[in-house]
Amino acid sequence: MKQKQGRFITVEGGEGAGKSSNLDFIRQQLEAQGKQVLFTREPGGTPLGEAIRELLLGHQHQGMAHDSELLLMFAARAEHLQQKILPALAQGTWVLCDRFTDASYAYQGSGRGLKTARIAQLEQFVQGDLRPDLTLLLDLPVEVGLARAGQRSAPDRFESEQQHFFQRVRQGYLQIAADQPERVRLIDASLPLAQVQQQISRELERFIQRLGG
Ligand SMILES: Nc1ncnc2c1ncn2[C@@H]1O[C@H](COP(=O)(O)OP(=O)(O)O)[C@@H](O)[C@H]1O
Ligand SMILES: [Mg+2]
Repeated sequence: MKQKQGRFITVEGGEGAGKSSNLDFIRQQLEAQGKQVLFTREPGGTPLGEAIRELLLGHQHQGMAHDSELLLMFAARAEHLQQKILPALAQGTWVLCDRFTDASYAYQGSGRGLKTARIAQLEQFVQGDLRPDLTLLLDLPVEVGLARAGQRSAPDRFESEQQHFFQRVRQGYLQIAADQPERVRLIDASLPLAQVQQQISRELERFIQRLGG
């Protein structure tokens, strides 16, 4: 049973860090190692989850309560786990997810100011013992990320926040990496893409070696 289980890899980081840009690269690296890879994202990943994503990222519900935001994130996550992530892992597929629960700690916890203990309760409720096996945290100065994201598309409800919100999010992510250095690997995402990819390759190799091939 243990051998059949796929691995769960998440990519985290602030706006414009390069998460989406690096997902295909990560998928290719894993496929080159013979892994079957399912690629997905949060909030979203299922029809219900994508509908919740629109509620969360769109501008029609400005000023929603912080608790509502947190609960919607976890509602989308519950659906995602049941419909997609857990079945894939059980089949031995590796799941690669653009953001996951670390983002709830960083955005709703550090960013919005919700208590970590409440998020941890929801994490346990929705996920049981499931945690990512590896998280790549793409870190860069807030201004650099926002400048990159600004060139990409019109800002969503989160991207419209103020700089100090994103500073708290960044610090929240860095704290998670400091607390869980084995699971959460810090990538300097301020560098040119090729150098970001080199760091990612190194971390993936290290991770796969540690699994024993
Ligand atoms: N290392 C990099 N150097 C310069 N620009 C980058 C780098 N990585 C990504 N970008 C660009 O920055 C923008 C945001 O990247 P994206 O992958 O959408 O970030 P995220 O998904 O983390 O918000 C895109 O236009 C992308 O082409
Ligand atoms: Mg993205």
